[in-house]
Amino acid sequence: MAAVALNEPLELPCGLVLENRLCRAAMTEGIAGPRNDPNEHHFRLYRENARGGAGLILTGNAMVDRRHLERARNVVVDASTDVGALRRWAESAAAAPTLVQISHPGRQTNRFVQPNPVAPSDGPAVPLAGLFGRPRALTVAEIEEVRDRFIGAGERVVTAGFAGVEIHAAHGYLLDSFLDPAHNRRTDAYGGPLEHRARLLVEIVSGLRSVLPERAAIAIKLDSREGGDDELSQLAGLLERAGADLLEISGGSYESPAMLGLDAEGREIQTEHESPFWNSAAAASAATAVPVMLTGGFRTRAEVDQALSSGVCAMVGVGRPLAVWPDLAGRFVRGEVDVLERPAPRLGGPAPVRKMLGAAAGSGWHRIQLARTADGKPPLMRLPALLAALDYTTVDSVQALLARRARMKLACDP
Ligand SMILES: Cc1cc2nc3c(=O)[nH]c(=O)nc-3n(C[C@H](O)[C@H](O)[C@H](O)COP(=O)(O)O)c2cc1C
Repeated sequence: MAAVALNEPLELPCGLVLENRLCRAAMTEGIAGPRNDPNEHHFRLYRENARGGAGLILTGNAMVDRRHLERARNVVVDASTDVGALRRWAESAAAAPTLVQISHPGRQTNRFVQPNPVAPSDGPAVPLAGLFGRPRALTVAEIEEVRDRFIGAGERVVTAGFAGVEIHAAHGYLLDSFLDPAHNRRTDAYGGPLEHRARLLVEIVSGLRSVLPERAAIAIKLDSREGGDDELSQLAGLLERAGADLLEISGGSYESPAMLGLDAEGREIQTEHESPFWNSAAAASAATAVPVMLTGGFRTRAEVDQALSSGVCAMVGVGRPLAVWPDLAGRFVRGEVDVLERPAPRLGGPAPVRKMLGAAAGSGWHRIQLARTADGKPPLMRLPALLAALDYTTVDSVQALLARRARMKLACDP
């Protein structure tokens, strides 16, 4: 991979040209109404994001199955989605190439949303304050349905006018847990060697490639797993052959939130580089001609420049700083600022509290800032970390219960 600069364009294999090498990473919005369609709040948020100056925008995770949500107020893209609303969302984001991230949460869905989650294999519930149900293994017919739902969702968003899709296969959600031997103990065609564990993801990518227009981009978000860079490299090869345009490397899950810079105990991860996934991105870049994007932890121009100029990645993803200030992307690319400022709300208290609520506080704080932009309000810098921790652990559960009731009233449950 040739050395490049942040403000240089990047042409993806599908022919889509990105103006620069900074991507606004996917961040869940949680601002849809009870029907889970995009609305005026999404339109405002993505108008701001698209004008913010990043070369590529990823939306927060949109769900492919309304029975399985990452949180109560996700957007869902399925046969019941309001096509007009999807089109208006794409129009609002048209100032920059925007990919809708499509996902299935697998076992990481709040029990008030889905008390009976699904996974590749039966296994333990996510151990967080009793908020999660114990997952059961999907049948082969259900796996095929999941595949078709991803392909259908991808087709719908591209038909609506988005530049493409990102398939979420990281952070412990369903497609990631198929890849992960710790969660996938199947002995059929979807378990065992990497080719089998990757079958569902590869079929989704090749299925999408065959139905989407040539210039629609297919990105895939993948996890760096400790000691797993050989597998990641092999997987990059499989996805290249299936038709991938961009591989985003991140890491972590609800149990060990490395994507937020925290370990399983809620302590800050210390690594040589700002991004804990640096070495995995380098391994993936060496294994494939598909551009690799590294997301997580970037703060300074020196690290961004080094990652790009050394060929560790072809693009950098930035999340939290742009949740607070969407226009920081452009200011950073243009060289007006050299630091991607990231306010870090700190949760005090004893270690078990930090372990249980550290990630909820960090992500909740930033999601609330997104929701404020979506409401046309400025960031609320003095938002207390403890209050932010309630965003997912409490507010979302209440919203899930209310949404379930509202859905029953609207009788739009599938
Ligand atoms: C509020 C919030 C919501 C997030 N939602 C998603 C999501 O929907 N999909 C996803 O792949 N990653 C999600 N992430 C992870 C980010 O995409 C990114 O990987 C992470 O924030 C690390 O990048 P950063 O250090 O630049 O923030 C989210 C992160 C935050 C803070």
